[in-house]
Amino acid sequence: MAGNRTNSPRVGELRLDVRRDVPVALHRQIAAAVRAHIRSGRLPIGSSLPPTRLLAADLGVSRGVVIEAYAQLTAEGYLASRPGGYTEVAGGVREPADRPPVIEPAAYRIDFSYGRADVAHFPRQAWLRSFRQVLTTTSTPEFALLSGRGAPALRTALADYLNRVRGTVADPRNIVITNGFAQGIRLLIQVLADQGATRLALEDPAPDDDARPAALRAGLAVIGVPVDEQGILTDGLDDVDADTLVLAPSHQWPVGGALPAARRAAVVRWACERNALLIEDDYDAEYRFDRDPLGALQGLAPEQVAYAGTLSKTLAPGVRIGWLVLPEHLTDAVAEAKIAADRGSATLEQLALADFLVRGEFDRHTRRMRPLYRARREALVAALHRHLPGARPAGIAAGLHLLVWLPPDLDEQELADGAAKLGVFVQPLSRYRIAPVGDRRGALILGYSVLSESAIAEGIALLGEAARRLRR
Ligand SMILES: Cc1ncc(COP(=O)(O)O)c(C=O)c1O
Repeated sequence: MAGNRTNSPRVGELRLDVRRDVPVALHRQIAAAVRAHIRSGRLPIGSSLPPTRLLAADLGVSRGVVIEAYAQLTAEGYLASRPGGYTEVAGGVREPADRPPVIEPAAYRIDFSYGRADVAHFPRQAWLRSFRQVLTTTSTPEFALLSGRGAPALRTALADYLNRVRGTVADPRNIVITNGFAQGIRLLIQVLADQGATRLALEDPAPDDDARPAALRAGLAVIGVPVDEQGILTDGLDDVDADTLVLAPSHQWPVGGALPAARRAAVVRWACERNALLIEDDYDAEYRFDRDPLGALQGLAPEQVAYAGTLSKTLAPGVRIGWLVLPEHLTDAVAEAKIAADRGSATLEQLALADFLVRGEFDRHTRRMRPLYRARREALVAALHRHLPGARPAGIAAGLHLLVWLPPDLDEQELADGAAKLGVFVQPLSRYRIAPVGDRRGALILGYSVLSESAIAEGIALLGEAARRLRR
């Protein structure tokens, strides 16, 4: 047998391959093959394995190799020794439950999903330079750093950036680095609930995947506060009894308003009067196309606002880095929650981002992306005017998506279904509404950030065709 690359005798009726041209010990190969047969159910519970001497002879290996493989699987609970020297498949082995079939998302030819940065433009070279720099210069002890707040170098670089570009009043000591906005808001809501908060207010409509489920899981009541095209409505705010209000004043998601000064003041007043916390979601503030973005609300009242930012819209969601700028009294508790959650974010990525910020690469990247997104947005608005007259785009010129209000004769779900039949994905607004009554106008959320201008034009022409078919 020596010299053969592969031996393939049978265990019961099953083939068992042992290869000599791979750097895996023979007993491990035998154990892996038998284990796989047991897991798949091809070797059923209670079935006998061949005596070690026989299998060894079949495989052309020493008996000790087979004994070692059986001993390993016996120790793991897959096999059991029986009186008389037999070995069989142990009774405790469970076959994996049948998994539901994986359903692939429908393949749309033109997909107006929202919330995606165009990661094809990820600044690979600059990111590589920052990573190389960090790997070359980081001191050995820093590799072992675990911190709930995050790497000091990143907190310093971020405070400088946010204070300069977003008008915050951020002290590096009050920043906590998180795995994106999703983790930041969850940690914060859990801390607030632990400290006795019971009611969380949200803009209505608002995202349904972060603050809302986190609040419900933490046992908080959720209250919706309506928005109009400028952002959250403050007229009825005095009647809103909540400990916390989450809002996106720079670019409301999804309606797209930028909160005017008087309403910003009203929101801050409301929070100060009842010592409530405002959570500011500043998710895409770098992408304002018609003018400089308004400074962050946090700058008006740093002790009343927890400011949340993320790289997900500006750089790439896969980087998984976000940040909270916190009022002093919350920082320790949130940093402790972060340590409890995951021991702190990955240090090298944080240091690379610090270098990236300090070199001005983040500014350069957003400066490069802005005209690209602006052109796509303009293409979308032009196509809507042409192919969907009567529909009205809403919101300021910013970000990666647009909301379009539909004329009363078009139902948003029917239009989305009609578009899907033509290979175009669009998202109706309704699922993001909190109150069951109130504004019932139909609208679609159209993400344009990863589509070429020609794809946008084609997609909206098809949406227009879907509308025509509905009206016929
Ligand atoms: C309104 C809003 N804020 C923030 C985020 C970013 O979340 P994360 O930083 O966890 O990727 C998103 C989502 O993708 C969002 O829609």
